[in-house]
Amino acid sequence: MAITSFCHRFMGYSMNLKPNIAIDGPAGAGKSTVAKMVAKKLGFLYIDTGAMYRAVTLKAYRDGVNLDDTKALGEMAAAASVELVAGHDQSTKVFLNGEDVTEEIRSPDISRLVSLVARVPEVRKRLAELQRAMAKQGGVVMEGRDIGTVVLPDARIKIFLTALPEERARRRRIELAAKGYYINQRQMEKEILERDRIDTSRETDPLVSAPDAEIIDNSSYSVEEVVGIIINRVLAGG
Ligand code: DC
Repeated sequence: MAITSFCHRFMGYSMNLKPNIAIDGPAGAGKSTVAKMVAKKLGFLYIDTGAMYRAVTLKAYRDGVNLDDTKALGEMAAAASVELVAGHDQSTKVFLNGEDVTEEIRSPDISRLVSLVARVPEVRKRLAELQRAMAKQGGVVMEGRDIGTVVLPDARIKIFLTALPEERARRRRIELAAKGYYINQRQMEKEILERDRIDTSRETDPLVSAPDAEIIDNSSYSVEEVVGIIINRVLAGG
């Protein structure tokens, strides 16, 4: 369907703002693939909030900040410049204090440590402010863990995307192998479950489905089907 016909339908939204779409869920559920496709079809901006937590984690790692020192992590996050720059084809470049860290933030070391940084309230507060500012004009597809619950509680469409752990581990391994990192299936499942444990049990903004989110198990559908469900929700007005 042409973008223009979508735009006409959006005119029905308050203040003529395009709706925001929140996509939350655990690691490896396929959020990025789905979110990018939805953004592309609608001509919306794709925002990967996990990349922002990864950038702050990279800074802490490089600076040798003790990850139990929540005060130091909060101060570091407040002082750091973290920018997402949208490229063509829904790719996003991530800049930390002006340096392109797009590749480095995906390394296994950062993947292992990021949950520990993401549990710090001051870090979350700072990044959530930046994320809200990016969504102010509407028309974003924002992916993360707390978007529907905390960052954009008024998002018109909220999706909680999940999948079986073995499927999520399989996806992550393929993604990592494409970047030259090889991890066996059991190790990957273990790491994914450990990240789930930290993300769902942290005190501040834990990973949880918003009460008004639609829960979709991505193991039961193709990517195209999930994208179709979300687009239909948008067209139906949320
Ligand atoms: O989606 P990802 O794997 O790149 O996310 C990296 C980490 O950041 C993950 O441990 C969860 C955390 N995160 C979060 O706590 N809140 C978000 N909105 C996005 C990611």
